[in-house]
Amino acid sequence: MKKIFKTNNALETINLGEKIGSLLNISDVVLLTGDLSAGKTTLTKGIGKALGVKSIINSPTFTIVKEYRGRIPLYHLDLYRLDGLNNDFDLEEFIGGDGVCVIEWPYQVTDLLPDEYLKVNIIRLSLEEREVEISAYGKHYEELLEVLK
Ligand SMILES: Nc1ncnc2c1ncn2[C@@H]1O[C@H](COP(=O)(O)OP(=O)(O)O)[C@@H](O)[C@H]1O
Ligand SMILES: [Mg+2]
Repeated sequence: MKKIFKTNNALETINLGEKIGSLLNISDVVLLTGDLSAGKTTLTKGIGKALGVKSIINSPTFTIVKEYRGRIPLYHLDLYRLDGLNNDFDLEEFIGGDGVCVIEWPYQVTDLLPDEYLKVNIIRLSLEEREVEISAYGKHYEELLEVLK
């Protein structure tokens, strides 16, 4: 199942992220795809807000993963700089763990990803307009996407 949303500025993307976040639970996985500056981290800010994260979420580009404490923990991963699979980074530590796992740029680890997840692809239409395509893989995520308005 797939739904398409349109946002007209960063705040609207944060608000959409917050709606998504309010539907997420422990061990849920969200993949974020789209070009650099599409708005993946911006959407994650909204997800964090819904999970009760109080600290500021920014790009984890140089750290691969950042953990945030909230009502539900948030593991925010950005795999853009992950150098293939030849490193000791253990994705399984975060996937299916005790929090929500949001993964920006998951392309390099497709073999390690779970079968079921929510995928959000963000397309830059203009300076501030974005098309946000949300696809659900698996029954749990289809039910979640069903109620997302
Ligand atoms: N509709 C929008 N949605 C998300 N970000 C937007 C939007 N309009 C403008 N922006 C800006 O685009 C940039 C997106 O950056 P970021 O979320 O870090 O992207 P990514 O993580 O995909 O590289 C931010 O500077 C944000 O303010
Ligand atoms: Mg980012």
